[in-house]
Amino acid sequence: MTDFARRIDAITIEQLRATGATKWSATDGSIGAFVAEMDFGVDPAITAALHAAVDEGAFGYMPQRIAADLSDATAGFLERRYGWSVPASDVWGIPDVIMGLELAMEHCSEPGSKIIVPTPSYMPFLMVPPMRGREVIEMPLAVRDGRYEFDLDALQRAFDEGGNLLLLCNPYNPVGRVFSKEELLGIAEVVDRNGGRVFSDEIWAPLVFSGATHIPYATVTPAAAEHTITAMSASKAWNLPGLKCAELVLTSDRDRETWERIGRFSGHGTSNLGAIANAVAFRSGDAWLADLVPYLEGNRDRLLSLLAEHLPGRGCRNPRAPTSGGSISAAPVSTTCRPSTSREKPPSPSRRERCAARPAPGSRGSSSRPPRPCSRRSFAGSPRRCRRARPARGRPRSERDAGLGGTPHSRRECVRRIDPR
Ligand SMILES: Cc1ncc(COP(=O)(O)O)c(C=O)c1O
Repeated sequence: MTDFARRIDAITIEQLRATGATKWSATDGSIGAFVAEMDFGVDPAITAALHAAVDEGAFGYMPQRIAADLSDATAGFLERRYGWSVPASDVWGIPDVIMGLELAMEHCSEPGSKIIVPTPSYMPFLMVPPMRGREVIEMPLAVRDGRYEFDLDALQRAFDEGGNLLLLCNPYNPVGRVFSKEELLGIAEVVDRNGGRVFSDEIWAPLVFSGATHIPYATVTPAAAEHTITAMSASKAWNLPGLKCAELVLTSDRDRETWERIGRFSGHGTSNLGAIANAVAFRSGDAWLADLVPYLEGNRDRLLSLLAEHLPGRGCRNPRAPTSGGSISAAPVSTTCRPSTSREKPPSPSRRERCAARPAPGSRGSSSRPPRPCSRRSFAGSPRRCRRARPARGRPRSERDAGLGGTPHSRRECVRRIDPR
């Protein structure tokens, strides 16, 4: 057992509850496995930097040195990890990735145009555009040879229907895909042909599993750089979402011009502590990732064997499954599960409790459309706790109240979860 594993395994449920994290406080005494928060504490290098900032009383409006350090550290990470050379001046701090999406809708897409959201989707992608008066075009991913892929014809249709900004999640939460260069080139070609724009959410990029390589979408062609605005953050891989900091990476002159105008204010709300933590993560968090990723891989493998044991014959769409041959990869701390045939009934309550993955009643799969609905489940905890965690029967009240959890396949499904009446 590694030191990292020993440290993680020693964290108690009481300590986790004491953090007040949604995952541990929004559930009525059960183990919350629905939200993407890790039970791994914080990289000690980050904690030390935060303590120092607190001792300094670094609580004024964000000083230029903190903002500049965040941009510099982020650019360094992109270069070191992905060979992506970005001037630090093109990296702008923002409070979070969802704010980045709102900014992209407002400043990088045709006014009033529709937003193209591939599904299944991270729920806010379906909810936020309508909140800002923008219509969503849902574009279901195709399932081919057991893996989720972009359907380029569907993407073209979405542009034909008035779509302008494509919301690309790369790597893709919730289906766990890390797209190949060929796939990204295919997407870029369609977007470029239609004069579209892409908001590339790369928040999960640091957590790509072995056997796969994250390729920043904006790097695939000069045209992709021109039509893309990229968002990232250390918040997922280093477990910092409550500190409110993410980054936008600009790769086109038109966005540079826009951010010269709005940049300072677009970052309003970014917290000093978040920026400090993100900078430390990006500059010196490689050791944390080197421990974390194999630990998560071990959990994923354990979960997959539990699924195989308790739900034999049912499809698990996590392409990180060893059965995928390791040709493609997944990052997010979630996995999806579906009945293996369209006619198959959902498992009995006792079986589904044992397998800890709950396809909802009425679940249907098909070869061309993604199965719906799926079940999402975090495995970013100690193996012992992951084994014990299971969804409550029915929909957990807290999940419904918070509008969290699960893997929505449509906006209707999101709305139903938030307001089930
Ligand atoms: C794909 C994706 N984007 C964005 C977010 C949220 O990011 P933020 O808290 O920075 O808005 C999440 C959170 O799980 C996510 O999975």
